[in-house]
Amino acid sequence: MAKYQRLIDRITQQIAADIWLPGEKLPSLREQVALSGMSLMTVMHAYQVLESQGWIRSRPQSGYFVAPRAEFLSQPVGHQKVQLAESVDINAFIFDVLQAGRDPQIVPFGSAFPDPELFPQRQLMRSLSAVSHSLTPADAINNLPPGNETLRKTLAQRYALQGIAVSPDEIVITNGAMEALNLSMQAVTEPGDWVVIENPCFYGALQVIERLKLKAVAIATDPRHGMDLEELARALARWPIKACWMMTNQQNPVGCTLSREKKQQLVALLAEHQVTLIEDDVYSELYFGSDKPLPAKAFDSQHRVLHCSSFSKNLVAGFRVGWVAAGKHAKKIQQLQLMSTLATSAPMQLALANYLGTRSYDSHLRRLRQSLEQRKNLARQSLRRHLPAAARINDSQGGYFLWIELPKQVNTTLLYTRALEHNVSIAPGKMFSSGEQYANYFRFNTAWAWGDAQEAAVATLGKLIAAML
Ligand SMILES: Cc1ncc(COP(=O)(O)O)c(C=O)c1O
Repeated sequence: MAKYQRLIDRITQQIAADIWLPGEKLPSLREQVALSGMSLMTVMHAYQVLESQGWIRSRPQSGYFVAPRAEFLSQPVGHQKVQLAESVDINAFIFDVLQAGRDPQIVPFGSAFPDPELFPQRQLMRSLSAVSHSLTPADAINNLPPGNETLRKTLAQRYALQGIAVSPDEIVITNGAMEALNLSMQAVTEPGDWVVIENPCFYGALQVIERLKLKAVAIATDPRHGMDLEELARALARWPIKACWMMTNQQNPVGCTLSREKKQQLVALLAEHQVTLIEDDVYSELYFGSDKPLPAKAFDSQHRVLHCSSFSKNLVAGFRVGWVAAGKHAKKIQQLQLMSTLATSAPMQLALANYLGTRSYDSHLRRLRQSLEQRKNLARQSLRRHLPAAARINDSQGGYFLWIELPKQVNTTLLYTRALEHNVSIAPGKMFSSGEQYANYFRFNTAWAWGDAQEAAVATLGKLIAAML
């Protein structure tokens, strides 16, 4: 057996025996040379093979780490029609869960927000203060829809860096991604129209169906591979679908990122049926690894993709600034915005334009991604320590959510209520689907610094789950 293969076998056996846990740092190349007595070339080759086989991951300037273990969650199948009555019920439930999560006593594993401590508060406040000193009455007019010109230009440049041609004129600045998504859906549908959503999906998609009186087909979204495109094709053939709202990167709640090929296929399939894609891409800056994944918008030669995102998940949640790259729908979206919220706050737009002008955004994002990856690993290790072995935790290459499947008999809505009594929140599966398929799943926010309180809260969850088995 080749020497490097002996080293591979040794390390994989150690990982299988939990000597090295997912997220833990492996000995550096030089340490491994000293430990194994093998040459640097041999050790490097072994590490490269281990990385290509998915056992370990390299992090620039930090070394090699054990990769999270793939755990296979049950495969969802098929599609279901979303009944309006059910989605109304869900909206009331979502409201209750979001309200309950606001109590500062609660360990907020159910939250959708990242830890604000990870954001550059001081620099943002400096930008806000700088613009507030030079604010003029004309700024309110100048920043009406489509929004601040400098901000739109900077966003267009960021698209260009990914090879995506979006002109500043196609971009509309909105009150967070939520407004971008809602206005996009409103721009391309009429009440009573059919749309496609994911199952499970971000609850904003369920809410818009009720608000705009749409009919929806919810298509199974696999935690590893994303939406089942064959199922989507069947739905497109069967119903007169107008739009499809979905996430192609770090889907909320399951965490999957569609492959480049699948994004291409998705855009082609929707174009064939003349269906508009409303792409929710709020987590795309939170990728792990070296390359930012492209959005489906990158493959949109027919101008059928409305790409929605915001700064809420990666820079500042409270400014409420997002955007949509809306192409030919930009004018309609501006008209709809003028009829609803009128505009996005001028000082907030100006402050963001000022902050982005300091050119510290990308270095902030690099630090943020690193912290999120480390925190996710710590959270996963803690969950593995305290949750029953039958719990399955989905891996994802970015973001700050873990999607967890529990044995069928554990109802996570009940778990949510019991956990709240112990000041711990989770996001139960019921928030993300109009059906009951995800009654034994929950979403766990890993963005928080790990300490005794978090460890104790996970231990509480573990005990509550064990009592329900
Ligand atoms: C998937 C997804 N889309 C959109 C939003 C809304 O983003 P924003 O806060 O920018 O309105 C959220 C917030 O939780 C989200 O998780």
